[in-house]
Amino acid sequence: MRSDLVVVGAGAAGLFAALTAARAGARVTLVSARPLAETASYWAQGGAAAALAVDDSPAIHLEDTLEAGRGLTKRSAAEVLTNEAAARVRELQDLGCQFDADRHGDLALGLEGGHRRRRIIHAGGSATGRRILRTLSAAAAEHRNITILEGERVAGLLEGGGVLLRDDHRQIQARATILATGGAAALWSRTTNPPGSFGSGLILGRAAGAQLADLEFTQFHPTAVVGLPGREGFLISEAVRGEGATLHDADGERFVDELKPRDHVARSIFNLPGQKAELDMTMVDPKRFPNIVEALQQAGLDPTRQRIPVAPASHYVMGGIVTDLDGRATGAPRLYAVGECACTGLHGANRLASNSLSECFVFGRRAALAALDDPEPTDGPTITADVSAPSRETRTNVWLLAGLERTQANLERLNEDPYPLARLVAASALHRHETRGAHGRAEYPDTDPALDDHHTIIDPDTETP
Ligand code: SIN
Repeated sequence: MRSDLVVVGAGAAGLFAALTAARAGARVTLVSARPLAETASYWAQGGAAAALAVDDSPAIHLEDTLEAGRGLTKRSAAEVLTNEAAARVRELQDLGCQFDADRHGDLALGLEGGHRRRRIIHAGGSATGRRILRTLSAAAAEHRNITILEGERVAGLLEGGGVLLRDDHRQIQARATILATGGAAALWSRTTNPPGSFGSGLILGRAAGAQLADLEFTQFHPTAVVGLPGREGFLISEAVRGEGATLHDADGERFVDELKPRDHVARSIFNLPGQKAELDMTMVDPKRFPNIVEALQQAGLDPTRQRIPVAPASHYVMGGIVTDLDGRATGAPRLYAVGECACTGLHGANRLASNSLSECFVFGRRAALAALDDPEPTDGPTITADVSAPSRETRTNVWLLAGLERTQANLERLNEDPYPLARLVAASALHRHETRGAHGRAEYPDTDPALDDHHTIIDPDTETP
């Protein structure tokens, strides 16, 4: 089978990349291992950030992104995002996405931690990912240039361009492959992510020689509800705090500015006795967040009347496949990575809330357009990878040994785990002798200014930083 482009993953980044290429006239094969409802984008509650308000500008959005990234954000990537996000929102509207509006009919803009302006667009309150994905997947299904292979897994990449499918061993030759497989936050057992987010794209990319970086930076979302049936960490969106919800310790006292960036709020909860806090959202209009309210009520918790126990859970991996500003993977020709599996450097050591959905559209489009300039595919070897999911034991280990506060001894133990990606997380965290953003080291509680802009690159030969 032959195509111009193969896109692996049908979340926001993959669908947007596929549509961009198809609308530019290319033949696209979109491979999705899982049903739509299991992609991380489908679960996204928080929305997409863009400087759309009259009192906002890309420059202010850029400053907030840099501030949250704690000295590790790549400025050029943040400039691309903040300059292009608004245009991508308009493009989504042209594709049929309907975002929540205020009473004047203008886009309703929400607030989240670390943002100095209201700049988060939502759809259906906290159903943003679901609504956007429904629209984009319908557009992709209707587009005659897009062939969708649902329920198919990729077992390897073709050096001459394209992929090898796992189950029927079919090869799809293409000029280039875009990995849009999502992140790896489900490597941690307590996570807000669906189980498929265990880093399959990182595994494929690494096998093909792509550089990986910054795997020690995993964002822990401060307000997950743990232990609900079927969900290890049910997310209560930060947008709820943007609308006034407050955090309380065991004595009922507020202990943190709820709208500080996530690393700060999560660590403040972690430092509480018992590491648990309660979220009071009784003052927030339940109609703003119907999905959250309904899910909690179904679990016997009524957020309109009672405070909800919350705790940090793994949410987003800032590291990933190193790419340039067009999504091109460093070290692997004809390979691109977009969305959470990529590491453009945009998120630094701590992603600014809701920059990730915007990233999917901004960099998904750039990669799709760049990939179309790659030469026709050629025959060449297939590079296969073992993309099996981590065991329950590995996931528990990653949570216990590489959580919010990491010790040398725990990381050394994790560095012996049988699962390669868990070892890479451990090795990266061992390598960084400081606490910065989402990465907390017990022995090195301070940020070392000498490590500003220092990224942890995994050497593809030695598999160590
Ligand atoms: C949230 O709604 O709090 C999550 C959104 C995000 O991770 O950006």
